Amino acid sequence: MANLIPLADIDPALIERVLDAAFGPDRFARTAYKVREGTDWLPTLSFAALDADDMLAGTIQCWPVALTDPSGRRHPMIMVGPVAVLPDLQGAGFGKALVTASLTAIDPRAPLPQVMIGDADYYGRFFGFSAASTAGWKLPGPWEPARLLCRTANSAVLPQEGMLGPWRG
Ligand SMILES: CC(C)(COP(=O)(O)OP(=O)(O)OC[C@H]1O[C@@H](n2cnc3c(N)ncnc32)[C@H](O)[C@@H]1OP(=O)(O)O)[C@@H](O)C(=O)NCCC(=O)NCCS
Repeated sequence: MANLIPLADIDPALIERVLDAAFGPDRFARTAYKVREGTDWLPTLSFAALDADDMLAGTIQCWPVALTDPSGRRHPMIMVGPVAVLPDLQGAGFGKALVTASLTAIDPRAPLPQVMIGDADYYGRFFGFSAASTAGWKLPGPWEPARLLCRTANSAVLPQEGMLGPWRG
């Protein structure tokens, strides 16, 4: 059973260690890093999972991003991830607990669409993310269209086309 605490309570060096273990040292070149470049993760939506010995098992970070449509209008969204679980502890439910915590913490009065780059097999099956609305979206780096996923209560209001990038107020 995962114990979840705010990610802000964790030493930043430990967070980096979990991310290195889950994604490898080349992770900084990933397109997801460019999408959220210059933003800070959102403390109220970002969590750490501790194992039974209160050791850090995994992390999730969420970021403020925007999809800019062809008319230049910016649509705010929440970028979910990276979700990272230490390799030895994968498959024990930490990932599901972390994603559930972030999605549940989103304010239901203003539920911004959630976007991520990830496996539809995992994030679709357990959380309802889908690539169905993202075919016309662009990212500031290479991506596999099937892995650009969105989750929202009303996909009809999503722009069909746009460029994802950091939210800057
Ligand atoms: C992907 C990840 C976050 C999942 O967390 P986890 O704690 O290992 O997974 P959970 O224990 O919550 O869920 C396990 C279930 O998900 C399935 N699953 C795990 N990773 C999967 C994937 N990439 N694709 C499809 N299914 C997956 C397992 O088969 C298992 O299914 P079951 O319940 O039917 O047996 C974790 O494995 C990880 O950190 N991987 C490396 C980094 C990464 O790829 N992160 C995601 C991109 S942001």
